[in-house]
Amino acid sequence: MRRNAFIAGASLLVGAVVVWPTSAAEAATIRYEAEVAPATCDGTIDSNHAGFSGSGFCNGRNATGAAAQFTVNVPVAGTVTVGVRFANGTTSARPATVIVNGSTVQSTSFEVTGAWTSWTTKTLTVPVGTGNNTIRFNPTSSGGLPNLDYIEVTDGPPPQQGPELYVAPNGDDANPGSLSQPLRTVQRAVDLAPAGTTILLRGGTYAPSTNIQLLKSGTASQPITIRNYNGERAIIDGENMPHTPAPVDGSIPRPERGAVHIEGEHWRLIGLEIINGPYGVFGLDTSGNVFERLVTRDNYESGLHLQGASSNNQVINLDSFGNRDPRNNGESADGLAIKEGSGGGNVVRGARLWNNSDDGFDAWEFLSPILIENSLAWGNGFNRWGIPNYSGDGNGFKLGGGDEDL
Ligand code: GCU
Ligand code: CA
Repeated sequence: MRRNAFIAGASLLVGAVVVWPTSAAEAATIRYEAEVAPATCDGTIDSNHAGFSGSGFCNGRNATGAAAQFTVNVPVAGTVTVGVRFANGTTSARPATVIVNGSTVQSTSFEVTGAWTSWTTKTLTVPVGTGNNTIRFNPTSSGGLPNLDYIEVTDGPPPQQGPELYVAPNGDDANPGSLSQPLRTVQRAVDLAPAGTTILLRGGTYAPSTNIQLLKSGTASQPITIRNYNGERAIIDGENMPHTPAPVDGSIPRPERGAVHIEGEHWRLIGLEIINGPYGVFGLDTSGNVFERLVTRDNYESGLHLQGASSNNQVINLDSFGNRDPRNNGESADGLAIKEGSGGGNVVRGARLWNNSDDGFDAWEFLSPILIENSLAWGNGFNRWGIPNYSGDGNGFKLGGGDEDL
């Protein structure tokens, strides 16, 4: 890739200033008192048991269906946590269903608190739509509700972790994927993972004979994460995959590019070492991903390569070295390549790119600005492998904006 070859130093900006992609809004907590309209209480608003907030609490009638209802406003549809402050001075729990916008979303039970003056908060997680939502507590036993003081609604992602799946070199794909009974293959974990999952790889080498395909998507608030467990060294080795290397002048079919091949959105790959693949990580038309603390080395094409419509990807603290492409006489394999396609908001921070056969970083025909900060490239473009007819370029940072002719 010889055209538009420029050499540049560390910490530079390709094109114009790029705005850092907005992260999820800060979570906000809003209190809704039971005695303040539009809240409703099928009973009375009382103030005879101390410790409540505001001017009173809802003393529901002691009857099935004697409900309390709150109207809450949330900025963005999703999941909110609801803290329900209540007191139950009896000796038995009071069950209720939780009804959001007319649909029952879960059952809960308000346990005894020891006295009517002993208030406690129970935390629930419920789905909501954008704007106003009714959240109704509907007692399902003749005792009715406990006394209800208020609810507090926190928007944004719930504080607790999403689901986790563990993978270990000595695991078994028939296992449930727990820490004590891990899966065997990364692909199995990927296939099982809903949005929000964190896939944790135990230390060791994973060397499947076909590449790992990330074709499903997370969401902005619920990305799917693949990371090493607890600082352990997890290696994905592509040597058993096809095209390692491809023959001279051979081409690699796009789905087979990358020991890890991404076409879904909102993935986070953290703390993994990806080696000897037909490309290390290859992303095609993929956005909203985080590539953090990856090592991509000794692959048979570029270490980390994003192609096509690519926006809002973050490459953080990448080490990419020793990548080479015998199939193209060393002229294609870069440490980091975002060199064909377009899309805003891509950011590279803290990359170290060395001893690759072509360039350290290559933005050749990428048409949009990419922000690069605090990154280094050295020692690229030397024939360290005895590749015949060697034609690696050896740019540190090759700037982009070339023809859109691919
Ligand atoms: C008592 C208590 C009330 C409470 C009621 C109940 O009457 O004073 O505040 O609501 O018990 O059992 O629901
Ligand atoms: Ca009551």
